[in-house]
Amino acid sequence: MSGNSLTITDNRTGKQYDVPIENGTIKAMDLRQIKTADDDFGLMTYDPAFMNTASCKSRITFIDGDKGILEYRGYPIDQLAEQSTYLEVAYLLLHGELPNQMQLSEWIRNITYHTFINENIKKVMDGFHYNAHPMGMFEATLGALSTFYPDAKEIFDADSRWKQIYRLIAKVPTIAAFAFRHRIGMQYAYPDNDLSYEGNFLNMMFKTTELTYKPDPVLEHALTVLFILHADHEQNCSTNAMRNIGSAHTDPFSALGGAAAALYGPLHGGANEMVLRMLNEIGSVEKVPEYIKRVQAGEFRLMGFGHRVYKNYDPRAQIIKQVAYEVFEVTGRDPLLDIALELERIALEDEYFVKRKLYPNVDFYSGIIYQAMRFPVDMFPVLFAIPRTSGWLAQWVELLEDPDQKIARPRQVYLGRRTRDYLPIEQRQTAAADVARTSVV
Ligand code: ACO
Repeated sequence: MSGNSLTITDNRTGKQYDVPIENGTIKAMDLRQIKTADDDFGLMTYDPAFMNTASCKSRITFIDGDKGILEYRGYPIDQLAEQSTYLEVAYLLLHGELPNQMQLSEWIRNITYHTFINENIKKVMDGFHYNAHPMGMFEATLGALSTFYPDAKEIFDADSRWKQIYRLIAKVPTIAAFAFRHRIGMQYAYPDNDLSYEGNFLNMMFKTTELTYKPDPVLEHALTVLFILHADHEQNCSTNAMRNIGSAHTDPFSALGGAAAALYGPLHGGANEMVLRMLNEIGSVEKVPEYIKRVQAGEFRLMGFGHRVYKNYDPRAQIIKQVAYEVFEVTGRDPLLDIALELERIALEDEYFVKRKLYPNVDFYSGIIYQAMRFPVDMFPVLFAIPRTSGWLAQWVELLEDPDQKIARPRQVYLGRRTRDYLPIEQRQTAAADVARTSVV
């Protein structure tokens, strides 16, 4: 019996097993040897929603939820948000190290070169209904893009893989902005490759009659910070979807479409929209105490508060709050900010929230900023997906290079009926409920 192991006694058989512990985990497959008989399948773990299962080893993003720490490749998120740019962070996530000047220039050039989309993709987008949700258009267009790049199937060819990475990081802002313009019936604004990544996105979103769009530097910087904060967050729902689809060796365009679909859900990328709805519903600072009382009474939850992983202030929320003040200097102060600040002030002192370790999360302030920047609410999940593309791709590359990984294929605990003979239809008995239903029809 080694010191770094777990001894398990199976009380069904009285047998003991010694299972190694590595990196604070035991291998689920080591449990398979625990059997009651030779023909027993062996012990499995039951873990719906992966509450306590590590699905991979990763070297990309570190989170300590109790201490409120978030690091990309070891760099604290606040240092990156303060000093870096989104494309530099994307390089860091994908390469593992910060680039030198030459590497960064080449990286930016490669991405900028791919910002345009095929004119036929534009026609695909034209086919969407006038009021199609931009996130639906976004994910569907990513799937459609895979048909334009058959070379994307060469996922084990390093050159091809990098090319798809450039294409995807470059094209997601274009697709996002085109989805928005289609929705409001405005002609598409083509990429301006003289602008920064973020500045060009603002150009494609908001350019009207001006010959050259000049992004406001404060808003451009706000977008940089928001993009950095959203670039990766280890094994969340959409990243897990990206890895799951990628494990079947699907091309990255299709896999990214699937990851975007996971992000679309209100439990994942849609929470900031719910924060805005809540702030509008509260309506004024005076009504905040009454609203908090209703939260305490269990009527509903305070949106933008609490997190599965962070049991401390979400480090991203702190940074975003600062950005909100900078943005309002340009756009004018949104009265919703005062409601948000009062909610936060009361909640952070209140026993209900303190006891449950509920703090503002990344979504508490981001929606107010996006609204002040004139992004409509249904663009919020798309604004999340643009920067998360680099994180999804970094996790996808790590998956493909990991010799431990295979096609993802969980087990199940089967509780249904076992083998029985097929009955011809005239011999099947009709249940009373079916008779009642048929007669209603
Ligand atoms: N408002 C009021 N009470 C809350 C809140 C909240 N926002 N969040 C959790 N609680 C309470 C629960 O009622 C529970 O109380 P109890 O012990 O008396 O029953 C306790 O805190 C623990 O809650 P859980 O649901 O077990 O916490 P979990 O970690 O499963 O949930 C979640 C995390 C889903 C984020 C939750 O805090 C929540 O619903 N927050 C509001 C929605 C939100 O802001 N989501 C965005 C998350 S960030 C992101 O995904 C990018």
